[in-house]
Amino acid sequence: MTKNMAKRLENKVCIITGSANGIGFATAQKFCDEGGISIICDMNDTQVQAAVNQLKSAGGQADGFVMNVTNRKNIDEVVAAVMDRHGRIDVLINNAGITKDARLVNMTEEQFDAVIDVNLKGVFNCTQAVVPHMLKAGCGSIVSASSVVGLYGNFGQTNYAASKYGVIGFTTTWARELGPKGIRVNAVCPGFIETNILTSMPEDVLKGMKDRSWLRRLGQPEELANVYAFLASDESSYINGIALEASGGISL
Ligand SMILES: NC(=O)c1ccc[n+]([C@@H]2O[C@H](COP(=O)([O-])OP(=O)(O)OC[C@H]3O[C@@H](n4cnc5c(N)ncnc54)[C@H](O)[C@@H]3O)[C@@H](O)[C@H]2O)c1
Repeated sequence: MTKNMAKRLENKVCIITGSANGIGFATAQKFCDEGGISIICDMNDTQVQAAVNQLKSAGGQADGFVMNVTNRKNIDEVVAAVMDRHGRIDVLINNAGITKDARLVNMTEEQFDAVIDVNLKGVFNCTQAVVPHMLKAGCGSIVSASSVVGLYGNFGQTNYAASKYGVIGFTTTWARELGPKGIRVNAVCPGFIETNILTSMPEDVLKGMKDRSWLRRLGQPEELANVYAFLASDESSYINGIALEASGGISL
């Protein structure tokens, strides 16, 4: 970035769920680079502290909380603490997500419920907790993690596909409800991005994913962080209710 270029998230308070690792952490780094205050929210205290320390030692503004997106009481406490310490919430990135894959015939109720709880109800929980503060402020940007699997489905991912389709349903609904109040709501649909979430995927499936992308490679977390920064910032000020695919053209 050139010296005189305005930073896109200058002093914006940005809650990012599931941000101790992977795409969430890369997004927190990008938001700090853009002048934002990245609020790391994740499950494990040591990982949260490590992420915050890394951001701060690179010169970023950051804070961190242990937060489980399935626990509404925990979320309410974190949101109250962020308001107390930082005075407002400008951006919510609903990034936390898990997979528990199995073909329909083998999927257990536990696998189904766990994925719906984190990937779908977690997005509802966090958004419902944050929105009253954005409504009071009359502005805000909410961006949630869907997936190409939320657009096209995927073999062995009944639970994950349902959760990610659901996130798009949330997005188009909330864009209508909240847009008139100054809050934009969008979703991101990543293709296959090199993070821990892919470690359970067999090598031949990963190779298939690379081959299907017209860029002939997996994506990097930083490439998604750029998409989140665009949708979080005023640069996308007339974009509301979209599900932006970032997959190297996997569906073409
Ligand atoms: N990597 C990909 O290929 C890909 C593709 C499409 C969509 N996505 C989505 O992007 C998001 C980030 O994925 P990633 O690849 O960075 O995964 P990741 O596993 O590297 O990171 C996910 C983070 O979410 C956290 N998390 C899990 N459950 C949580 C909970 N209940 N409360 C709070 N935090 C929780 C984890 O601790 C972890 O830090 C997910 O929603 C995922 O579904 C990823």
